Amino acid sequence: GKEWTDVRDLVEEIVGSEVLIRGRLDTNRTKSSKLGFVILRQSGFTVQCVATHSEENKVGVNMIKFLRQLSSESIVDVIGVVVHPKEPLTGTTQQVEVQVRKVYCVNSALPKLPLIVEDAARSEADIEAGKPGANQDTRLNNRVIDLRTSANQAIFRIQGQVQVAFREYLLSKGFLEIHTPKLMAGSSEGGSAVFRLEYKGQPACLAQSPQLHKQMAICGDLRRVFEVGPVFRAEDSFTHRHLCEFVGLDVEMEIETHYSEVMDIVDELFVFIFTKLNERCQKEFEAVGKQFPFVPLKFLPKTLRLTFPEGIQMLKDAGVEVDPLGDLNTETERKLGQLVLEKYKTEFYMLHRYPAAVRPFYTMPCADDSRYSNSFDVFIRGEEIISGAQRVHIPEVLEQRAGECGIDVKTIKTYIDSFRYGAPPHGGFGVGLERVVMLFCALNNIRKTSLFPRDPQRLAP
Ligand code: 4AD
Repeated sequence: GKEWTDVRDLVEEIVGSEVLIRGRLDTNRTKSSKLGFVILRQSGFTVQCVATHSEENKVGVNMIKFLRQLSSESIVDVIGVVVHPKEPLTGTTQQVEVQVRKVYCVNSALPKLPLIVEDAARSEADIEAGKPGANQDTRLNNRVIDLRTSANQAIFRIQGQVQVAFREYLLSKGFLEIHTPKLMAGSSEGGSAVFRLEYKGQPACLAQSPQLHKQMAICGDLRRVFEVGPVFRAEDSFTHRHLCEFVGLDVEMEIETHYSEVMDIVDELFVFIFTKLNERCQKEFEAVGKQFPFVPLKFLPKTLRLTFPEGIQMLKDAGVEVDPLGDLNTETERKLGQLVLEKYKTEFYMLHRYPAAVRPFYTMPCADDSRYSNSFDVFIRGEEIISGAQRVHIPEVLEQRAGECGIDVKTIKTYIDSFRYGAPPHGGFGVGLERVVMLFCALNNIRKTSLFPRDPQRLAP
């Protein structure tokens, strides 16, 4: 066994060495019977391979013939020598060339594919200029091919890094990673957005969040917990930022007295995540930016916190009237995001002390004014990525709030009972992973950051 070399590692420093590479046939430019030209692609990196018919190279005309009939996207192994190209290369990411000695087709792709990677990789500017592109549905219908573009390879590496940094920070602060059940007897967030199913003859639903069980983990003295797992929402509306299944990053922790302790964790955690992304993902940002241009996120070393009434006032001063005890909508959130950017020079901030009426039943009302609550939302570029709060840990209040919010208390009896056995003050938050990556990279649609998106109209692939 010879060792494999990654395409991304084919660089100047190794000119002269013989390598074994495996990639996909990106483009086949073989025209003549004496000269073979193919570009191999691996994880978004591309390299030109040249086969010249000659005695000393031991490349026969049959090998060139073989190269010529290889179809795009086939898996191909090449053994060859890394050389300087005759002319500077423009069509590939790698600036060296491979002089082919041997070539094998490991598995061939159909000669005609439902989506061409080059079209899927086209920037909006190029499409406007008349080059062929592929619309979102075609791309998502053929997601395995679509995922091969450089931008998509980068998006999912960035997403991976968000999770790595999320875990890194929380583990360093003594949080424990847990897993809560996704099959539940009742809904955890209330509302109609719940998938119902039958569980051995008993009505059940898919978890709308780990909310209830992460709080119960606190009642079980796990003290500081987090979870990375699927969240199910039977959304009716087809929007750029709602999925029916997404990845939730959830945190729950004991607090001493105030929900600002939870906001402190959000602040440090996200400054840590953004800093790590900036350190580790420059190549990925470049790859995403080539297809979907974006400017880096502006954030402060200490995250800005505004109260909800302060936010309402800023909107009012700008001539936008909103209900001071209602919720913001997509439009007013974006508007406030713009105002915050102008005034505070940041695209990442927290808004806290939300009106109690627009928060879930488990949210702790403010001690000084029960029209408001000990809760917060966090925004990137004017769109919500997190919601969090201090929770009600008094069972009677919890039961009453659940009833007021139209939740069938019987279905969450074990949850409410957990607080009757003694529960410390606690709080936490939930983050949508796809939203974080979408908004960090200023992408226009959440489907771009979901590997195989599930939305009201899509259950495949
Ligand atoms: O705001 P949500 O519904 O809050 C909760 O689930 C609470 N249990 C969190 C807590 O600990 N208090 O959801 C949290 C985050 C949102 O801020 C958003 O980023 C994301 O989850 N999210 C969605 N992402 C994609 N598609 C959807 N349909 C989403 N709904 C919420």
